[in-house]
Amino acid sequence: MAKKRGQDEDPGPNPSVLFLHPDLGVGGAERLVLDAALALQARGCSVKIWTAHYDPGHSFADSRELQVSACIPVLKLARRPKKILFYCHFPDLLLTRRDSFLKHLYRAPIDWIEEYTTGMADCILVNSRFTAAVFKETFKSLSHIDPDVLYPSLNVTSFDSTVPEKLDDLVPKGKKFLFLSINRYERKKNLTLALEALGKLRGRLTSQDWDKVHLIMAGGYDERVLENVEHYQELKEMVQQSDLGQCVTFLRSFSDTQKIALLHGCTSVLYTPSNEHFGIVPLEAMYMQCPVIAVNSGGPLESVVHGVTGFLCEPDPVHFSEAMEKFIHEPSLKATMGLAGRARVKEKFSSAAFTEQLYQYVTKLLV
Ligand SMILES: *[C@@H]1O[C@H](CO)[C@@H](O)[C@H](O)[C@H]1NC(C)=O
Ligand SMILES: *[C@@H]1O[C@H](CO)[C@@H](O)[C@H](O)[C@H]1NC(C)=O
Repeated sequence: MAKKRGQDEDPGPNPSVLFLHPDLGVGGAERLVLDAALALQARGCSVKIWTAHYDPGHSFADSRELQVSACIPVLKLARRPKKILFYCHFPDLLLTRRDSFLKHLYRAPIDWIEEYTTGMADCILVNSRFTAAVFKETFKSLSHIDPDVLYPSLNVTSFDSTVPEKLDDLVPKGKKFLFLSINRYERKKNLTLALEALGKLRGRLTSQDWDKVHLIMAGGYDERVLENVEHYQELKEMVQQSDLGQCVTFLRSFSDTQKIALLHGCTSVLYTPSNEHFGIVPLEAMYMQCPVIAVNSGGPLESVVHGVTGFLCEPDPVHFSEAMEKFIHEPSLKATMGLAGRARVKEKFSSAAFTEQLYQYVTKLLV
């Protein structure tokens, strides 16, 4: 989240922007704040960043709470800010927590906003229209505020600079139709949907085609996280029970270069979570010219264009398998949808698009 203020009575053409970032220790959020700061600076704003420091000596949850409360005095020090822009970037890690945790985390800054912003022309930004709806539902006392949307951007540097490796080590020979799921091993991500869809696909194909189909379940995995360990076991058992062992590979913890190679080489990504606040994987896939089959709720409704850059389906194995089958019977679909996907990311979710929108929101506030 970020706040800004203009320091002079007349903001003039070069606004002063102060970012207050509670430093939650989530890499993506920090990257975003830094990118936003650099972007505004490049547009002629004078920029400062204030942040509470992360102390790795604290446990994960504890340190987060501490940092958030430590942020409050900092906010109060920012005397009579002229305008405040609040970017509620619900970090990806938090999306899997309970609502009450989210509420708890955001309560303090939101109280502060309520207290200080009465009568001010504030702007609240969130990372998707879906999050905007969640925001309104969660923070009922702010129901008079309609958050604007500023989509996160995809930093394409590593995608552009990496030459995709061959997939020989990861995929058995002769597999022409490679489907890929990328998500942490968490139940909420509904990875079973990908496995069940694969089972349904088997029933729709000739054995000749079926022999060429493979699914890679790639996911962030931390053996210290009980849910990761348990869920991985559950999925493996499910694969054995449905006799899909020959056509599923589980990949726990993978490198960035492997991810890029997989996205480059696969037929389509299966994105299974419902109600995802934004979801960066569909952007990564589309940028790598890989069509996305995603659930028709949450962020993917805004990132994936149905029938153009992929397919949006009910969270139902039959619907998913129907979409998968299209790529098998119409192999050119991957290329056409892939090109459309890359064009979409460049247009809507590039760093340049992010910078431009943020700058517009900042200048609009100062009019
Ligand atoms: C993108 O990421 C690279 C590191 O991978 C970093 O050096 C660069 O500054 C980032 N670019 C933007 C626009 O954020
Ligand atoms: C997860 O997928 C199953 C089908 O595999 C579906 O029945 C269920 O509704 C999905 N869950 C959510 C939250 O969408």
